[in-house]
Amino acid sequence: MNGSPHKGNTWKLAEEVQGILKNIEPGSVIEEIHLVNLKLPFCSGCSLCFRTGGSNCPHNEKIQQVLNAMEEADGIIVASTSYNRRETTLLKNFFDHLCYLLHRPHFFTKKALVITTTGGVGAKSAAKSIASFLKGIGFNKCYLLPIAAYSWNDYKVNNKTKMKCEQVTKKFYQAISSEKLHSPSVLVMIPYNLFRGMSLYYVKGTEYETEDGSYWTDPIRKDTVYDKVVPVPIYKRPIGYFFYFLGKKLGKKVMVTYKK
Ligand SMILES: Cc1cc2nc3c(=O)[nH]c(=O)nc-3n(C[C@H](O)[C@H](O)[C@H](O)COP(=O)(O)O)c2cc1C
Repeated sequence: MNGSPHKGNTWKLAEEVQGILKNIEPGSVIEEIHLVNLKLPFCSGCSLCFRTGGSNCPHNEKIQQVLNAMEEADGIIVASTSYNRRETTLLKNFFDHLCYLLHRPHFFTKKALVITTTGGVGAKSAAKSIASFLKGIGFNKCYLLPIAAYSWNDYKVNNKTKMKCEQVTKKFYQAISSEKLHSPSVLVMIPYNLFRGMSLYYVKGTEYETEDGSYWTDPIRKDTVYDKVVPVPIYKRPIGYFFYFLGKKLGKKVMVTYKK
């Protein structure tokens, strides 16, 4: 997924990574999505996705194309230039359209490789910002490739960076081919279980029912501290129970309303 508005420095690294993947697994199929071609309008802030479901987003047709590709993929490579030490507006706008998935995470078996370049400073913070979002929507593992290009669109990938690309891409490939799922970090379990507890007040038939209420009371996830496909070691489970309990307490005190 190219989050840059052109095929520039960052895309050079994306191509490098694609070449390495093809070398490791000649049969691999890589679909390129250039977000700029999607012509996705800005999120209008209607909050229909949060309240009634992503399919009711006014821009759902465009979003769904990308979601389908993400669903089908074994792994996702996200490339973005660093603008002011963060992801580009293009990518942020796409992520804004998926913010409802922070409430109802989904991509539990997916792994990502995040490529960012910068003129000098901020590639790491941009990569971390992207990875933090992806983990929030359920991604199991994110590998980071933040690179300082020191160039305006005339970047030549040096040998040291080529080696780094090779290392990270191999790890990414192995993570996918092994199908091993990592247990969620505490930072991922906290919001997951807060939402699980707080959403009990928004189930169908309540004054401010939302999709969150239906999602979190679905028997497939209602009673577990993380999605059942992902292993959670015994010592981490009490953290989940604690934040679920806290979510229930908080949810009772604060009701999130909306105009009917
Ligand atoms: C709008 C804009 C914002 C940028 N912000 C930063 C920045 O905060 N720090 C930095 O070191 N470089 C910054 N740069 C430089 C680019 O990150 C850098 O040249 C990058 O490698 C360009 O990648 P691209 O060719 O894939 O777009 C910025 C460039 C643009 C166009």
